[in-house]
Amino acid sequence: MTALVPRAARRRAGQLASFAEALLTPHGVDRYLELLDPMLVRKEIRGVVTEVRRQAADTVTLTIRPSRAWRGFTAGQYVRVSVHIDGVRRTRCYSPACSQYRTDGLLELTIKADPHGLVSSYLYANAERGMVLELSQPDGAFTMPANRPHGVLLISGGSGITPVISMLRTLVDEGHGGPITFLHYANTADDVLYRDELAELAATHPGLRVAFGYTHEHTGGDLHGFFGTEHLHAVAPWYRDAETYLCGPTPLMDAVRTVFDTAGLSEQLHTEEFAPPPLQLDTGNATGQVRFTHSGAETANSGRPLLEQAEEAGLRPEHGCRMGICFSCTKVKATGCVRDARSGELSTEENEEIQLCISVPVGDVEINC
Ligand code: FES
Repeated sequence: MTALVPRAARRRAGQLASFAEALLTPHGVDRYLELLDPMLVRKEIRGVVTEVRRQAADTVTLTIRPSRAWRGFTAGQYVRVSVHIDGVRRTRCYSPACSQYRTDGLLELTIKADPHGLVSSYLYANAERGMVLELSQPDGAFTMPANRPHGVLLISGGSGITPVISMLRTLVDEGHGGPITFLHYANTADDVLYRDELAELAATHPGLRVAFGYTHEHTGGDLHGFFGTEHLHAVAPWYRDAETYLCGPTPLMDAVRTVFDTAGLSEQLHTEEFAPPPLQLDTGNATGQVRFTHSGAETANSGRPLLEQAEEAGLRPEHGCRMGICFSCTKVKATGCVRDARSGELSTEENEEIQLCISVPVGDVEINC
């Protein structure tokens, strides 16, 4: 673990950094500052883990102190978290679970270890105090309007609790005056995240009702079995007059959508929806060769995203959203430079994970695909 530098030294480094930024190319001053202390970086964001706790099996909750470039988040948004695993930079998205008003500036991420998920399993097994993570600024439009709805229904399942408990904590910090129901589904009581905290919030905030639904137990919960209209009537009979925010596994999302669509309430149901980002492409000036190392396929760079170029070369890389959100198209760039077609950011490192659907080659590149 890298030793942290005292505050005075941080200030001096900050004063020198602006001057040095212009001189130190192509990597910029952050590459050099982080050799001293990762938290000194100026443009990029790092987060040092200050606390690790395990609330339930396969789940780890990290408290993180972000570096100076962090601008804060709005409840419901997500953050990209990158770690280096076996020499490869890997990135996944996690939604903070804390209130957007947390006064100590710390960030709380709760991560469920997916047996097939490299990053979540790595963090579950290896996270410790002092570990430094790479973070992005927050992103995502799954947020409440600034003019808060009077009645709020929050529904979550499993680790989908994080963006909605962030909304709940934020509303509580605001002293929200309307009714709130927090309906959370888990397999069993032992699988409920934040159970004690939610119970305490419900006990101290008269307008808040917390209900736990257990899908694999017949006793002990407020509700049992899978979501249905009768659950809504039981815990939020005013749901027709409320705004509802939903995050969870696909079967729960589908079940809630069906009920709301049938009731003509789809406008009042808010889920994580993504719109394709505008891509900045310059196909007229594309140069270089694209080599897909595993298949041996090779093509002249067309300036289009690598996912399209791979498909045009006859490959079928795994993908999902095609808009840079789901990370299922992630591959390792062995050599060369690519540009993020949304932000313009260049990736020049060897053996770096990139998303094929939003990455455009800048000259020759080799992709492990
Ligand atoms: S991030 Fe979803 S397909 Fe690329």
